[in-house]
Order: sequence, then C-alpha cells, then structure tokens
Amino acid sequence: MLSVTQNEPVEFAPTLLAKFADIVGRYPEGRHKSALLPILHEVQAHFGWLSVPAMDQVASYLKLEPIEVYEVATFYTMYFLQPQGKYMLEVCRTGPCCLVGAERIMEHLEDRLGVKEGEVTADGLFSWRGVECLAACGFGPVLQIGPEYTFYENLTEEKVDELLTNLKNNAGSQPLSANS
Ligand code: FES
Repeated sequence: MLSVTQNEPVEFAPTLLAKFADIVGRYPEGRHKSALLPILHEVQAHFGWLSVPAMDQVASYLKLEPIEVYEVATFYTMYFLQPQGKYMLEVCRTGPCCLVGAERIMEHLEDRLGVKEGEVTADGLFSWRGVECLAACGFGPVLQIGPEYTFYENLTEEKVDELLTNLKNNAGSQPLSANS
C-alpha cells in the first residue's frame, strides 16, 4: 500500500490504470460513471484511503466533475476520507451487540490502542471505529477487519487482546483468519 498525505499530488500507476480500464469496460458505452464505485475501491486499496487529489484524478479519468466523486465518497462509509491504520477494526455498535458488550469492547480498544475512534496508532498499524449492524447479530459482540472483512465474533476483552497481539506479530505478512 502506498501512503499519501492529505494534499499530496497523486499519479496513478499503469497497473492501476489498467484496472480502471478493465472496470470501465464492464459497462455500456456512455455509462462510464457506473465505474466510479469500483474504481474508488481500487484507489482506496492502493493508497489506503481517498485523498482529495486522488478523488480529483478519478474525476478527471472518468470525465466527471470532482463534486460527483466527492458526493459518492462521502455518502458510503466504506470509503475512508482520512488515513487509516493498516488494520481498521470496525466494531458493531447496533442494539443487539450493545446488549452483549459492544460498548465495553470499544472502550477496551480505545484503552489498549491509546487512540480514540477514527485516530491512527503511532506505529500506523491500527484504527478503530463503531459501525452499524454487521449482520452477525447472534454472535456479538463482533468486529470486522477490512479490506477482506474478516469477522471476529463473541468478543471478550481477552479475545481482543489476543487479536491485537496476533495482528501486531503478523503485521508484515498476510491477514489472519477469523476466530470466534
Ligand atoms: S447488531 Fe451487531 S451484528 Fe447485528
């Protein structure tokens, strides 16, 4: 993943542009705007988040107004508009998970990581945030980690500690498989 700062100019690599062309090719002539969401996902996977210069470049590539890209990127919560940690821990904060301790899990994450919701740890590894129902309501508290969206269910403080340790130890390799 390539890191960029807020206003840093962005150039898309030929490999990324090839992916864009492949995505645009899936849609009928004149419907290139339909490629916007998947292209934003590719940009986010490449840079870790969507900076304004990156969104402007996408607008230019798709011959859209920048505002058309901003509207989409700010509407969907799966797009990050500021830098995130390598691991974004998304904890379900909807009612059923709260009844079984989701708020306690979020407090524990804040305590263990030393950062508030949406912030990044000093080592760049972790961010966390509360999200709405993850559709695993019978297995709460639950969190997911993108971009693969691996699920961790029936969480306790001890399981969270174990997960953080494993993620730190594996930070240079592949993401872990889920445990529950
Ligand atoms: S309420 Fe938490 S997964 Fe649905």
